Amino acid sequence: MIIAIDGPAASGKGTLGKRLAAHYGFHHLDTGLIYRAVARALLEGGHPLDDEVHAEQAARRLEAARFDEGALKSQAMGEAASVVSALPKVRAALVDFQRRFAGRPPGAVLDGRDIGTVICPQADVKIFVIASEQERARRRAAELRAGGNMVDEEAVLADILRRDERDRGRAVAPLRAAADAHLLDTTHLDIDAAVRAAVDIVEAVRAGRGHG
Ligand code: C5P
Repeated sequence: MIIAIDGPAASGKGTLGKRLAAHYGFHHLDTGLIYRAVARALLEGGHPLDDEVHAEQAARRLEAARFDEGALKSQAMGEAASVVSALPKVRAALVDFQRRFAGRPPGAVLDGRDIGTVICPQADVKIFVIASEQERARRRAAELRAGGNMVDEEAVLADILRRDERDRGRAVAPLRAAADAHLLDTTHLDIDAAVRAAVDIVEAVRAGRGHG
């Protein structure tokens, strides 16, 4: 079974994906980490973020073992990732890796921007997670503060909006909900309630198909 979770920056889809995977005993892939790892490899190699040749090489050489979250989770790396992720050759180089992961038994949850539309259009369940801009900025700021950073919430909001605009506006695999995605608005939900709502969606789909 494949569960595809997409949504804008700081919508909570990563935490939701992890918790949903744990609930079902499925594998979980936070695909944002892949693009962040490509951006980090480029920066470490001293290459500009729009260097498509080196970016594609970095994408083909990625090792999942290097997706150690701490180093990749910074705002700056998210911003850099949104630049390299717009390069068509980078996206193309990463399709097989993600599809292989999605096929792992007994099931997988992948979260990102184009899972339901491009990577796994045949996913059993697609969830598009949204939350208000203010709530997303508040959550991201709290996360950064918890990590010991000084935070200007206005700047965090501006960052999130700029990244969403770039992700929605790119030519290849832009951020958007698949036509058959279930919309989940988490603005007024804490994480436990969001997980329950997501499980309800999955169970409703399974019941509808006679699996439940
Ligand atoms: O989800 P996260 O914030 O970690 O993603 C970082 C950036 O990677 C996003 O802003 C987006 O540009 C890119 N991304 C993408 N496709 C995905 C996942 C992430 O383009 N499936």
